[in-house]
Amino acid sequence: MTKSSTYDLEEVNGIGPKTAQLLQSKGIISARHLALFTPEELIEITDMTPDRAEKILRNARELVFGSRRAVKGSEMTKIYQELPRLTTGVKSVDKLLGGGLEPKATYEFAGEFGTGKTQLCHQLAVTVQLPRDKGGVGGACAYIDTEEAFSPNRVESIAKRFGIDPQQALDNVYVIKVINAADLEDRVKFDLVRLVEQNNVKLVVIDSIIALYRAEFRGRERLAERQQRLNYILDWLMRIAKIYNIYVVLTNQVIDVPLGYIEVKKPAGGNVLAHAVTHRFFLKKSRDDVRVMEVLDSPRLPHKATATFRITDRGVEDA
Ligand code: GTP
Ligand code: MG
Repeated sequence: MTKSSTYDLEEVNGIGPKTAQLLQSKGIISARHLALFTPEELIEITDMTPDRAEKILRNARELVFGSRRAVKGSEMTKIYQELPRLTTGVKSVDKLLGGGLEPKATYEFAGEFGTGKTQLCHQLAVTVQLPRDKGGVGGACAYIDTEEAFSPNRVESIAKRFGIDPQQALDNVYVIKVINAADLEDRVKFDLVRLVEQNNVKLVVIDSIIALYRAEFRGRERLAERQQRLNYILDWLMRIAKIYNIYVVLTNQVIDVPLGYIEVKKPAGGNVLAHAVTHRFFLKKSRDDVRVMEVLDSPRLPHKATATFRITDRGVEDA
């Protein structure tokens, strides 16, 4: 991020040195960062009056996004086409995704254990570092590891395959460990934004989004609360994706749903995840090291279209 695209807090109308200092002490680093917050959130962390919180947030949004924001439908096609696609490094998967991952969107990869979710995340942590002409965006990755599944060795082998210095590849992956749902919220709202603004992070991986929530909010009686908290974190990820133009990838576990005499596997997280995520995919085992990826739900990709890939010592590859 260049300085001019993030703006200093004091450039916001109504924010003087004292308020800027207060906001900084709470972890808000720029006017763009501030513009992500809702009045309620700002009041909660600063004890500001509601009037004042609303006023400075409105001014922050106006500074960062301008006051006229309508775009003609005819211009949207061009805007979508010009968004840089991020390669997965697997041709068939890129094709399924319509040319790679798009920024400003969230991707969910759900599947049983061993279907390649974590492998795919490791590969993206490397491909995001590739230059534009090789399908990357020359960026770094923030890897939120909730399952203790991050493997530096795997990043190294994948980096070698793509011609990136393994040490350099690892230096461009910021691994974030989280303890519980509240900690995840703080890491996303503050640490992640700092990494995006100051360390060129372009891709956020959460492997997995659901593990913490399943462990923390157990039982039927806490389901509503779990879904609310899940919705909250997904909303924050979407705000960051849109405002900073970054790629968001989430992995998800599956649940068994009885259907007559048989059980079918569905992604965990229920309706909340289904509504909040932009593009959803289901990963299945085929044979040996071969996996199938299927479009589960997407506003722009064909329902049930599939791609196959293989998990090898070099990462994930075309089958
Ligand atoms: P869960 O996190 O358990 O839900 O599974 P996942 O979908 O994240 O599975 P993951 O991506 O970890 O894929 C595991 C599969 O990748 C297993 O079949 C492993 O054998 C394979 N795998 C992992 N590392 C390597 C490797 O270095 N070489 C090869 N050839 N295969 C590997
Ligand atoms: Mg995994």
